[in-house]
Amino acid sequence: MCGIVGYVGKKDKKEILLDGLQELEYRGYDSAGIAIIEEQKLKHFKAIGKLANLRERTKDYQSSGFGTSIGHTRWATHGKPTELNAHPHLGEYSFVVHNGIIENYQILKSELQQEGTKFLSQTDTETIVHLFEKYHNQNRDAFTAFTQTIQRLEGAYATLLITEAQAKTIFFAKNGSPMLIGFEGNDVYFASSDTPIIGKATEVYYLEDGEYGYVKDGKVTLFDAKGEKSFSKQTLTTNKAMAQKDGFRFFMEKEIYEQGEVMNDTMMGRVLDDRIEFEELDNQLFENISNIKICACGTSYHSALTGSYLLERIAKIPCQVEIASEFRYKEPLLRDDTLFITISQSGETADTLEALKMAKRAGLKSLSICNVDNSSIVRESDRAILTRAGIEKGVASTKAFATQIMVLWMLTLYIAQLKKSIDKESLQSELNAMRHTPKALLVTNPLHEKLHRLSKRYLHGHGFFFIGRDLFFPLALEGALKLKEISYLHAEGYPSGEMKHGPIALADSELFTVALMPKSLHYEKIKSNVEELSARDATILAISPEPFELADDFVQTKYSSHPMLEFFEMMVVTQLLALEISVRLGNDVDMPRNLAKSVTVE
Ligand code: G6P
Repeated sequence: MCGIVGYVGKKDKKEILLDGLQELEYRGYDSAGIAIIEEQKLKHFKAIGKLANLRERTKDYQSSGFGTSIGHTRWATHGKPTELNAHPHLGEYSFVVHNGIIENYQILKSELQQEGTKFLSQTDTETIVHLFEKYHNQNRDAFTAFTQTIQRLEGAYATLLITEAQAKTIFFAKNGSPMLIGFEGNDVYFASSDTPIIGKATEVYYLEDGEYGYVKDGKVTLFDAKGEKSFSKQTLTTNKAMAQKDGFRFFMEKEIYEQGEVMNDTMMGRVLDDRIEFEELDNQLFENISNIKICACGTSYHSALTGSYLLERIAKIPCQVEIASEFRYKEPLLRDDTLFITISQSGETADTLEALKMAKRAGLKSLSICNVDNSSIVRESDRAILTRAGIEKGVASTKAFATQIMVLWMLTLYIAQLKKSIDKESLQSELNAMRHTPKALLVTNPLHEKLHRLSKRYLHGHGFFFIGRDLFFPLALEGALKLKEISYLHAEGYPSGEMKHGPIALADSELFTVALMPKSLHYEKIKSNVEELSARDATILAISPEPFELADDFVQTKYSSHPMLEFFEMMVVTQLLALEISVRLGNDVDMPRNLAKSVTVE
């Protein structure tokens, strides 16, 4: 995901920016750039791919003396990872870097284009620099122009701007995306998280939403909607490892917490007012297609299963799901009216890649859903949809799973639009529910605290059954997999209606049942299944909006009209439960034994 650095002072700006960007590498990126003003002269460099490419580009450039500078790593979300789309973005005499989404950029862009401004990139960010220069050309005052600019922006942003018009100043603004200011003597640093400035700055101020201002002569002048304001600095941590985790104990924990935020990236430019749009797809891909086959492994297989319910129910297209390692050797009958979809977080899983190659050899059209651009699976597929989850470090997948599900839900609606199998009203209600997803993914303190407390009761026993029906069956599978992966306790996911056909024989007080009981989907049916288990003395942890009196433990979720919102909320509960049990057992949450993040052997 994107990262920002900035620096004003006399030190070597090039090195400060490149080092800072290096510290943000762990967040993932596909292009990078820097811009520096020294002695009134603007210099900029951009490169796609790794920072080494940018270092190579800048190797003959020396920066010295007082100046201002900004840098950025970009994880492509809107517009491809090209040099033109990489930040910083240039106007006539100014540069800008930006994280977040300018929601009204299309309106601003058309307005500027009508006035004759030429745009070079496909990004929303470029509107900021052109707006700034438009206002500056009118009133010749840089700070007034910057203030007018940010007043026009809607959405989330953290942005830095430098301009030859006022060469010794950096302008900054923050709303919805993180940014902080670091201090050391007369040197002032900016960054989108602490890591780039640890070891350089000693004090820090974390900007609040709605704050903006400028740095001049080592002094920060800060404003919010009420006018100029004072602020107090804090001592900056010296622990880099902690800072990479944004203060969380584990990467997995951080990744669970950031699911709401990344979901906005996944939906950006795709969930429109009245429809779903995928710039990476066209009608041709779906011509003569009468059914879908999805192939994947592990967590991605669970998202595939979830997708199959949505595709059949809403898009009315038959959909089969296969575990890639099974598919490869079953001598499958493949027909060319099948769209072959692979799902993979890493894009490198050997079994999934091989399954895809088999399908291609049989002449099938292919689409991949993946988190890593340019990965083997993406390159091998006819088309790819990126999940935009940002780099995932915890071996146990969380946010990658959540974003895969979102892509499948969007794809379902996209196909339903094409096939006209959904009416306007239902489409609107699906889109509305989608827009509420980031809220359903919020982790509140009371919820996390509750799961921390509950977890101590689930450290023994002879096994866990996660049970659910319909869409919640794949979620039960995924909940059980999360627990297995990081707690090393035995856990199974099962369709709740199937328990009576065997597993109920295991029921006693030492059998822990985690029951997913959404109110918006088959509640009464699941309730009866759970009652059957309770009657055999199984210990029940119920997750539901509806209080359930037979539950030994109960986690209450919100009532919601759409099952997918219940799905995402319950997904967070199961992730946190697994995390807290693993922590209590003293396991390595981020690197569980015997597992690898990317499995490139069959
Ligand atoms: C490994 C990982 C799992 C992942 C599976 C499939 O086993 O540990 O978290 O679900 O591979 O990986 P993919 O990258 O294809 O989604």
